[in-house]
Amino acid sequence: METTATKRRDNKKSLRVKVISLGNAEVGKSCIIKRYCEKRFVPKYLATIGIDYGVTKVQVRDREIKVNIFDMAGHPFFYEVRNEFYKDSQGVLLVYDVGLRESFDALDSWLGEMKQEMGSQANMDSIVFVVCANKVDLTKRRVVDEGEGRLWAESRGFHYFETSAQSGEGINEMFQAFFSSITDMCENGGKRPVSEVSVGFTKEQADTIRRIRNSKDSWDMLGVKPGATREEVNKAYRKLAVLLHPDKCVAPGSEDAFKAVVNARTSLLKNIK
Ligand code: GTP
Ligand code: MG
Repeated sequence: METTATKRRDNKKSLRVKVISLGNAEVGKSCIIKRYCEKRFVPKYLATIGIDYGVTKVQVRDREIKVNIFDMAGHPFFYEVRNEFYKDSQGVLLVYDVGLRESFDALDSWLGEMKQEMGSQANMDSIVFVVCANKVDLTKRRVVDEGEGRLWAESRGFHYFETSAQSGEGINEMFQAFFSSITDMCENGGKRPVSEVSVGFTKEQADTIRRIRNSKDSWDMLGVKPGATREEVNKAYRKLAVLLHPDKCVAPGSEDAFKAVVNARTSLLKNIK
């Protein structure tokens, strides 16, 4: 006979969640989901029209999770369809193609579109985000490296995984971490667990490393105007050196950024009287 206690325990065990996929058209959102749910890969591109919907059941620890997956179309044309589906999501797969820089740069605007529909940053804070650096099997055409992708993700408290829907690399690990974090969040009263948010480096450090990587010359790298004085160069250098010193900064790419800053200062000082 089923007792009230058994019922209560079973209710606690089952959970229903909603996840969505976001990212530019053709980055591989549908293929990642297909690889996980159907264990197969389709090389031919079939653009998602507006939205695709599917359900899957997963086991996380002692809980059965019913996952409703809303796979969004990346094409700007479908904005009006997408915007209906952002609300009430517990998880977001943010996907880019490691061979297309614009798909990585677009992640900020995907967050922007979502935030606009969610109304506030507070509503975004209770969602688990996983960044998928996809198509890592196509090594020769890769232009966004792991450090850059990981930095962008982890500085925002998001998970980062390298994936290939084609070979299956990283897909199961990524979904396991995704569903496990969503379960933790639901058990934590709808708040992202603290361990994921504290990554040991600040947003300022992450943003500075990104800025340095994208700088066009040594002046730009130090954040001074062309023609700046020795004092101005040294002052900017000291500030960056303190921020990025490898002893103090554990953000991915900090060592390279620190070395680049040292070299930039040396080459500028050579030419300043
Ligand atoms: P939209 O639905 O238009 O937003 O695109 P999408 O992000 O869902 O892309 P989709 O999954 O349809 O994949 C786009 C193309 O990339 C297809 O031709 C896929 O076969 C290919 N593709 C997806 N993932 C991978 C991957 O990991 N490696 C390789 N080599 N190709 C991939
Ligand atoms: Mg698709």
